[in-house]
Amino acid sequence: MRIEVLDLSELEELTFQTAIERFGDLARGNKKIAMAIRDLSDFYISEPEVRGRYPNSVMHQIARMTFFTLADLPKAFNVAAELDALLGICEKPQLKILDLGAGYGAQSLGLLLYLSHGGSDRSVRLDVVDKDLDALDAFDQLFAQCKKNGFFKNTEHHILHLDLEKRFELKETYDFILMGNMLCEVKATIH
Ligand SMILES: C[S@@+](CC[C@H](N)C(=O)[O-])C[C@H]1O[C@@H](n2cnc3c(N)ncnc32)[C@H](O)[C@@H]1O
Repeated sequence: MRIEVLDLSELEELTFQTAIERFGDLARGNKKIAMAIRDLSDFYISEPEVRGRYPNSVMHQIARMTFFTLADLPKAFNVAAELDALLGICEKPQLKILDLGAGYGAQSLGLLLYLSHGGSDRSVRLDVVDKDLDALDAFDQLFAQCKKNGFFKNTEHHILHLDLEKRFELKETYDFILMGNMLCEVKATIH
């Protein structure tokens, strides 16, 4: 089924004008970030054949870090909580996690926040894969801040710059493999 791409540009302009009328400079200041969020959202739901390049301006990068990372993190947190309640999957004292197409780390962060709640001391090794160097760098910075500020401890991470559409080999085995919001972006069969 093909989903028509709506042209909302006029309605978008009108909406922002109304927001500025109503909320003043606060709305004016947030217009760029709001547009970047919508842009990315359009990209994520469009079909691969009609999709352009990944929107990756600074504004899009800010949107990914400050909006999508936080909005998507509960997907891993909530699933881990459910699986743990049903199967006790988080009880091991050492865990190895692989995050494929990790982006800015929403799924890794969600899972790690779950694993560290209640002050657990287990050790975690996290391997993070993406083909986008900017995303991996942003992940690294955000993750370092989380560690520095005590969101999780005993966790070491390894950044792997890989394209999943090409053949690759991983030497570790894992307790968790995360693939959040990324299968729609991978064209070829993953070997
Ligand atoms: C929508 S983001 C999702 C990021 C994160 N998993 C989340 O849930 O927020 C998709 C990520 O998959 C990555 N990606 C897409 N195709 C890829 C490929 N062939 N190899 C590695 N990473 C890929 C993109 O660079 C992007 O960072």
